Amino acid sequence: MIYITTPIYYPNDRPHLGTAYTTVVADAVARYWRLKGEAVYSLTGTDEHGLKIVRAAEERGMDPQEWVDQIVERFHETWDLLDIASDDFIRTTEPRHTASVQKLLAAIHAAGDIYEARYEGPYCVSCEAYYTDEELVDGACPVHDRPVEIHAEDNYFFRLSAYGDRLLAHIEANPGFVTPETRRNEVVSFIEHGLDDISVSRAALSWGVPLPWDESHVAYVWVDALINYISAAGYLDDEARFAAQWPAWAHLVGKDIIRFHAVIWPAMLMSAGLPLPRQIATHGFLLVGGAKMSKSSANQILPSDLVPTFGPDGYRYHFLRDVSFGPDGNFSWEGMVARYNADLANDYGNLVNRVLNLAERFRDGEVPAVASEAAAEEAALRAAAAGALEALAEFEEFRTKQALEGVWRLVRAANAFMEATEPWKLAKDPATAGRLDEVLNAALESLRVAAVLTWPAMPRAAESLWSRLGLAGSPGDGPLAETGVFGTFPASRVAKGDPLFPRIETEA
Ligand code: MSP
Repeated sequence: MIYITTPIYYPNDRPHLGTAYTTVVADAVARYWRLKGEAVYSLTGTDEHGLKIVRAAEERGMDPQEWVDQIVERFHETWDLLDIASDDFIRTTEPRHTASVQKLLAAIHAAGDIYEARYEGPYCVSCEAYYTDEELVDGACPVHDRPVEIHAEDNYFFRLSAYGDRLLAHIEANPGFVTPETRRNEVVSFIEHGLDDISVSRAALSWGVPLPWDESHVAYVWVDALINYISAAGYLDDEARFAAQWPAWAHLVGKDIIRFHAVIWPAMLMSAGLPLPRQIATHGFLLVGGAKMSKSSANQILPSDLVPTFGPDGYRYHFLRDVSFGPDGNFSWEGMVARYNADLANDYGNLVNRVLNLAERFRDGEVPAVASEAAAEEAALRAAAAGALEALAEFEEFRTKQALEGVWRLVRAANAFMEATEPWKLAKDPATAGRLDEVLNAALESLRVAAVLTWPAMPRAAESLWSRLGLAGSPGDGPLAETGVFGTFPASRVAKGDPLFPRIETEA
């Protein structure tokens, strides 16, 4: 089972392009695996406890539950807008999660890894994390560049310090545990520096999950949040499901939350005797004009600002094609328009339009199922299709850009095929009617394969193309090893329809 997760987002505000980025990548990769015929479980959700949420609610004069109930709807709306097909959406205020938090913490407690002590130190509410004085930059949070607060509490602590060696051994034995390599190195040197125990409870807060052994404390929001990954996998009361689903195939996370996922979370699992996730796949930040887009700054752009212009597919394609998973990426409107017009309106959209138009014009939309085994033009097309199919596997490494570049080799080859075979000329001479059938068939077949291969990235456009091709079911039905192979286009009735990706005029 391919169990793939996004972080669970703080519902302190609506999702912006940065938070949507991970969700789009996770969705495309999950769809890729579904297309291959794998059993997939994709999870996203919201991280609803903690001080940050309490304060966001207070500012609006609401109670936290009322506030999160309202914001969570904005998340659902955004994911619907972007055609995110998650199998599950977990909220940390749900009983299936709170009970699972208590079960895991009880296991860690029973393992002897919890003790009580007083803690005092700088706390960043935006990060929901303590820092040491050395980590602060001019007295401010190193991530948010905002003032920290001094918190002092009697807390329960988790013996994270006891897990350094085991964590290092695990990372060494499993080089793909933290990716990319620069992030792995960062995690290794962090652990080698020596781990401090961490506080796992809050006595001053009531908005959280009560500790099973002391109900006057709630679980620290990060400890609570990380557990969502097993809550959604049946850890609480579904042994069979948990065995099938856990450990996760991959947790996708931004670089700011890597320590929680690559250090604290695996140590908690080790303490409870549970297996570790296969991979923590880390990406960079989306920047606007060089600065991180965040909920607290004015540079926020929301998916709903872009989808009316680019459609869900244009949106997904841009971020998958232009942002490498790993380093930071810059967002610009101009770059997005340029990519859309070049790849979608020109290369792909025009190809679809042209081929379907010719099939309608010369064959009333019914092209016989005949293919040439011998023609050199078709051989080039078949080779490009095979290369594109192979490149799609880049999704397994989150190399979404390379996967789509591969698919575009087929799109370009199909355009070149049209130029080389000139079906509009073949149509003029009755003696070449047979060749015209073959050429149109091969052109339609390349559209069919393109619909299959683009489905993980652009499901809506792929499905629309599929129905224009008169095919039954969905290009996502798979299995890829069969449907992604270039063969003979089946006899069907095709129809052109409206342009798939209308050009965006830059003046607009
Ligand atoms: N609630 C925690 C995660 C708990 S997971 C058990 C959290 N939430 S968050 O809403 O602040 O951020 C969620 C994710 O969004 C993080 O992976 C973070 O890196 C990502 N991003 C937030 N802003 C971003 C950009 N500007 N660009 C890319 N990703 C960014 O942290």
